[in-house]
Amino acid sequence: MNNKPENPIGIFDSGIGGLTVAHAIRELMPHENMVYFGDTAHLPYGDKSEAAIQAYSVKIANVLLQKGCKVIVIACHSASSAAYELLKEYVRHEALVINVIDPMVDYVARNFPGGVIGLIGTKRTVQSDVYSKKFREHDKKISVHALATPLLAPMIEEGFFNNQISREIIAQYLSDPLLGKPDALILGCTHYPLIKKEIDEYYGSLVKILDSSLVAAQSLHSYLAEKGLLNNSPRPESHFYVSDYTESFEASTRLFFGENVHLESHRLWN
Ligand code: DGL
Repeated sequence: MNNKPENPIGIFDSGIGGLTVAHAIRELMPHENMVYFGDTAHLPYGDKSEAAIQAYSVKIANVLLQKGCKVIVIACHSASSAAYELLKEYVRHEALVINVIDPMVDYVARNFPGGVIGLIGTKRTVQSDVYSKKFREHDKKISVHALATPLLAPMIEEGFFNNQISREIIAQYLSDPLLGKPDALILGCTHYPLIKKEIDEYYGSLVKILDSSLVAAQSLHSYLAEKGLLNNSPRPESHFYVSDYTESFEASTRLFFGENVHLESHRLWN
């Protein structure tokens, strides 16, 4: 088991969008060593089959375990819905695994009992119906209204947010009768924290917007504290690997992490 506080936190995503989760973790736990893996060779995961995402996730877990990670955070919602159970079983004796869905389900069950909850995410996440299934275990009265919003992630990656085009696309999606008027809306994709403000404006602040990156970071913090695994290094190290390096990915890191990040290349298959 990789269970020393100084072992790094491993975080992975289909690409660089998961840097929103890495950023939330860095803000809350600035003394942690961190290893990030973005599977840029295989993105987007949102359109992939469950089996493909499971295969990529196992490969990535092997990389993170080799780097000695004490915990593996599945930052990607599509991978959290497709591969969490499998990974938990796969790395059971070596590291802890957390996803970005369970912490949100707990949060909503505590704060919106019996509520009407909207969810936007990729096709994979929405089709998996994972939120409804998990809510059923907590609170049968919570109802989930889920809508796949596949245009949003590429739109954000191209830097289209806080402008007229993004406002129109967001309005088009959020006015879908499937979503209705929820009590709260879960941002079920790594990229959506970047359009949180626009979504809030669309609803005139009448719907609570739930940011999974913040809720997952909180949950990770409690988890590490409970296991005695919080680190206090004055000079923590971070590495950011991608399975297919391009300058354009590196340039986009600032969008998601708030500062430029140097990406290192690490192939998944040789
Ligand atoms: N990271 C993915 C997610 O959170 C969005 C991008 C993709 O489809 O790969 O579901």
